[in-house]
Amino acid sequence: MKIIMLGAPGAGKGTQAKKIAEKYGIPHISTGDIFRANIKNETELGKKAKEYMDQGLLVPDELTCDLVTDRIKNDDCKNGFILDGFPRTIPQAEALTKALEKMGQKMDFAIDVDVPDSAIIERMSGRRACLKCGATYHIVTIPPKQEGICDNCGAELVQRDDDKPETVQKRLTVYHDQTQPLIDYYKNEGILKTVDGTKDFEDVFTAITEILS
Ligand code: AP5
Ligand code: MG
Repeated sequence: MKIIMLGAPGAGKGTQAKKIAEKYGIPHISTGDIFRANIKNETELGKKAKEYMDQGLLVPDELTCDLVTDRIKNDDCKNGFILDGFPRTIPQAEALTKALEKMGQKMDFAIDVDVPDSAIIERMSGRRACLKCGATYHIVTIPPKQEGICDNCGAELVQRDDDKPETVQKRLTVYHDQTQPLIDYYKNEGILKTVDGTKDFEDVFTAITEILS
């Protein structure tokens, strides 16, 4: 099963992708998590990506496309994978389609987690993230068992640098300009499914598994 998670920043793509990956035993590939791991390890890619991420801008396609099109050739992707945060531009979507075509494959589902902008800012201000395993929490709606500590791996939870209200606003603008057109792209491909992302996260998960089964 090959799945794309679409949706605005903070819509819940990462929260749902982790659960879907677990349920179906497929890898969860988040470009945001890959960039954050590179920033933490101070790699060349991390240094370049940080310049853009801190401003709420997209990392250029040339730094992003090969990263994913190479990753999906790995053995662990043989039975499928879930992409979270990629593609985010039409050129990225085209690069993905092309890479899959070469492998004689195509995506099965593009799931749009729909949340209005008004609900996004609230979510982002309460988000806490684990930079070690990529888990995300919300201080009110999805709190960790122990404050400030990741349930999965015990690492310390942090607030992401790009979750400041001004940066979130910029990310929303970038989303509407550059990423939202992908909804029509995947509608035309006949694989778009939309779920109401304002519901409780368990209900959103149920809605997604119903689509996938
Ligand atoms: P990325 O890490 O992908 O960030 P994003 O798209 O902005 O999305 P988020 O991770 O902020 O939100 P999410 O939808 O995963 O929501 P979450 O599940 O955490 O990218 C970061 C940056 O990297 C980009 O800005 C860009 O610079 C760069 N980048 C990444 N990919 C790129 C690409 N392909 N091309 C170019 N640049 C790229 O949930 C949010 C919060 O809400 C959490 O606190 C969560 O606990 C809570 N929550 C989740 N679901 C619910 C629910 N149903 N009810 C209540 N609360 C909920
Ligand atoms: Mg995410």
